[in-house]
Amino acid sequence: MSRVFVSLDTSALALGAERVAQAIAAEAKQRGAAVEIVRNGSRGLFWLEPLVEVEAGGQRLAYGPVAPRDVASLFEAGFLAGGAHALALGPTQDIAYLARQERLTFARVGLTDPLSLDDYRAHGGWRGLENALALAPAAIVREVTDSGLRGRGGAAFPAGTKWETVRGAGAEQKYIVCNADEGDSGTFSDRMLMEGDPFCLIEGMAIAGLAVGATQGYLYLRSEYPQAARILAAAIAKAREAGWLGADVGGSGRAFDIELRLGAGAYICGEETALLESLEGRRGIVRAKPPLPALAGLFGRPTAVNNVMTLAAAPLILERGAAYYRDYGMGRSRGTLPFQLAGNIRHGGLVEKAFGVTLNELLHDFGGGTLSGRPIRAVQVGGPLGAWIPPAQFDVPLDYERYGEIGAMLGHGGIVVFDDSVNMLRMARHAMEFCAEESCGKCTPCRIGSTRGVEVLDRVAANRDREAQLALLDSLCDTLLHGSACALGGMTPYPVLSALRHFPEDFGIGSQDHAP
Ligand SMILES: Cc1cc2nc3c(=O)[nH]c(=O)nc-3n(C[C@H](O)[C@H](O)[C@H](O)COP(=O)(O)O)c2cc1C
Ligand code: SF4
Repeated sequence: MSRVFVSLDTSALALGAERVAQAIAAEAKQRGAAVEIVRNGSRGLFWLEPLVEVEAGGQRLAYGPVAPRDVASLFEAGFLAGGAHALALGPTQDIAYLARQERLTFARVGLTDPLSLDDYRAHGGWRGLENALALAPAAIVREVTDSGLRGRGGAAFPAGTKWETVRGAGAEQKYIVCNADEGDSGTFSDRMLMEGDPFCLIEGMAIAGLAVGATQGYLYLRSEYPQAARILAAAIAKAREAGWLGADVGGSGRAFDIELRLGAGAYICGEETALLESLEGRRGIVRAKPPLPALAGLFGRPTAVNNVMTLAAAPLILERGAAYYRDYGMGRSRGTLPFQLAGNIRHGGLVEKAFGVTLNELLHDFGGGTLSGRPIRAVQVGGPLGAWIPPAQFDVPLDYERYGEIGAMLGHGGIVVFDDSVNMLRMARHAMEFCAEESCGKCTPCRIGSTRGVEVLDRVAANRDREAQLALLDSLCDTLLHGSACALGGMTPYPVLSALRHFPEDFGIGSQDHAP
């Protein structure tokens, strides 16, 4: 029986993977070839999707991008045994884009059948949880603290510190909430992991539950991810059936279970307190802090809210130990970040690298420059609230602190590329418009200031009283920065002011004195 792998990941499906899988099944039937088609996660090399892999000679060989019309010729070429073909890419693991990565969190994604418990086990699954079950809660937290893991949802808060606060909070009931709202533009690492290795997230949530003393977890998933929802629901049911969730986790006598909840499409529901409101059945409006969710979160109980990538890093840390994870990275940014290359880029996809890699490496060595073939003019790092980075800063190491020094942030690792046809005044206007549309309405600078910001930028574009309007924009951004109750309003000035600072010519000015 030959094993053929075709991805079930949303991006691969969007590029035609389902039709390719069907064409392979039909062709195999017609030829009487014994073929098992495994639906794996995506390797994250999107320009090669639909990627088809075969197991031959003890390794995985790749062909791509495959269209249904290529399937007959692949059989003709004997691809089941690794035959030569124009679409042949050689051993998957040797494709430079993959070979040069440091895949820790994504080690299994694309390799395994996401819903096979046997496959998960055979590739190191549940070992972290088993180790955690043998440790006292404080020792689990210590391991995570020592690993240097910081929150991957955007704020980069140390995960161990948050877990320690929840652990130390006295309460009968505590919760783990997984933030899978993934609203940032150009980001998809959470989705890829949930679709390609859902047991890893389940294991991470169970470890978090044991660490802080929570018996119930909620997985808050954006409803725009229906494939992830199907896969997670199936994976949670399988994990429960196998005894990894429920009243007796791994036969330990300790309880932890997970409930999947769907969001309704608001960017602000990714903000942790608005998310908690939404989970409780109310409109997603930001809560005042304090109290911290770690002390009074879901239903007023101590709650650890963590991003998918944060939780999915926990199994490896508990399996290999804190030092293994901490060995990657630079400064206070330890471990790896799965960067997501999107926008106008030739080789878009997922690149997991240790902190310290530069945009030059990601955009050129991995990304291969723009898809349009024109020069890169600007890159937005960290989602819609992230600063615009000009080519002069492409050699700054991607590290939380170094990015902070240049008035930027890494956020969730989204990197959106634009060529020299982009107009940065329009991008600044877009940031204000985005803030106006997504504002929860709680505070004035964000609710009203963002709408005024759009109007001011429209007057700048129309060259109406430009000097005075730019001064007004500076003052408005200052109010947003310092007067907003959360980072939606508080960070909208980042894309606006970085566009103004690095690309003043697009605003009709030559000076560079509008720095944030
Ligand atoms: C407007 C806004 C949107 C956010 N969206 C997300 C999101 O989609 N996913 C996420 O994990 N964190 C998001 N965050 C960050 C969360 O508030 C919170 O910091 C995070 O869930 C904590 O988990 P971590 O420490 O593991 O990163 C957002 C924050 C703001 C202000
Ligand atoms: S900054 Fe905007 S999104 Fe945040 S609390 Fe205020 S109004 Fe709501």
